[in-house]
Amino acid sequence: MRILRFLTAGESHGPALTGILEGLPAGLPLALQDLAEQAARRRRGHGRGGRMKIEDDAVDILGGVRRGKTTGGPLALQIVNKDFKVWEEVMRVSASTAPAKRAVRIPRPGHADLVGRLKYRLADMRDALERASARETAMRVALGTAARRLLGELEITVGSRVAAIGGVADDSPPPALSGAALSKRADASPVRCLGKAAEAGMVGAIDAAKAAGDTLGGVFEVIATGLPVGLGSYAQWDRRLEADLAASLMSLNAVKGVEVGMGFSGASQRGSEVHDALYWNKDKTKVVRKTNRSGGIDAGVSTGEPLIVRAAMKPIATLMNPLPSVDLEAKTDAAAHIERSDACAVPAGAVIAESLVCLVLADHVLVKYGGDSLAELKEHYGRP
Ligand SMILES: Cc1cc2nc3c(=O)[nH]c(=O)nc-3n(C[C@H](O)[C@H](O)[C@H](O)COP(=O)(O)O)c2cc1C
Repeated sequence: MRILRFLTAGESHGPALTGILEGLPAGLPLALQDLAEQAARRRRGHGRGGRMKIEDDAVDILGGVRRGKTTGGPLALQIVNKDFKVWEEVMRVSASTAPAKRAVRIPRPGHADLVGRLKYRLADMRDALERASARETAMRVALGTAARRLLGELEITVGSRVAAIGGVADDSPPPALSGAALSKRADASPVRCLGKAAEAGMVGAIDAAKAAGDTLGGVFEVIATGLPVGLGSYAQWDRRLEADLAASLMSLNAVKGVEVGMGFSGASQRGSEVHDALYWNKDKTKVVRKTNRSGGIDAGVSTGEPLIVRAAMKPIATLMNPLPSVDLEAKTDAAAHIERSDACAVPAGAVIAESLVCLVLADHVLVKYGGDSLAELKEHYGRP
């Protein structure tokens, strides 16, 4: 991220999540309603835990917006954790000699507990899991909403769908829909998947895993449409559009793989089956592609075709039927710690990934076109 920069702070059960997004042009309309809509999309999805029923993720705008529009100053947002009321003593900020409540001493395999303890010399692994929790992504969705708003002004929309959960795949090819239309359809499904048979299979797989005290991961796809040619560059490694997208998506909790276009499947096919042949349009004024196997990026540069990125999310690490682990105080074998948890969060992961893609694309738009105000950006973009 070059022009847009952001940081988040806050613990899962702490008083609030905080975020600052710097670099937005002035004059961008941003309403609480925009933030609430995206927050609600993240909370949904079959397989989420009880926490999502407690939180409303109401976002407060603390800076950077006045009379409904950005000022050019940093955007400062806050989401108060409603659950904090119950966790106040556990999460107390002031020092105390009393033993910590709900201390965690048996790490969950695959979670931040053990590495956090070893890295930060934590006596209580709650310090690790509170920050490593994907609760933080509620703030990234909020910040991404401002980026989404900016892209919307340029008629670029970003959407997503779930392609697989557990072993159940929705094999339908990426639909020819705008990003916004895709999400509208996916949002109507409890697992954000387009195929009805696959939807039933995914719901069943989640229920079966949950009943067994187990968890599931999956694959989601993010699509952005309306993109101009020329975002990103091959001129330097760190200007490649797909490099920024991959870094951003890999920063999402539980994401373990990212692919663009045909991605891994292209590796086993011939060049003639993978590359997008080029043709003239009717009046020979424009070069066109009949396929979009590259997923909208060639050599780190957007082609103007829809951007298609997929990410693989591992199963949730907290198992109600816990894996073997070790008690670090008693030095015994023990079943892993159990924390209230989702059984599957792939539908939510897709929504969060949209927000991350929005942040990356908005940054690249600002790098290419620039503008201290929305009006100036639109002049540069050619659609005032
Ligand atoms: C939307 C979302 C919700 C998640 N919910 C949980 C959860 O309830 N319990 C859990 O153990 N992990 C959950 N995770 C995954 C953990 O945050 C993640 O596995 C952990 O931080 C370790 O990081 P890593 O998986 O990226 O290596 C969730 C991830 C996402 C994206």
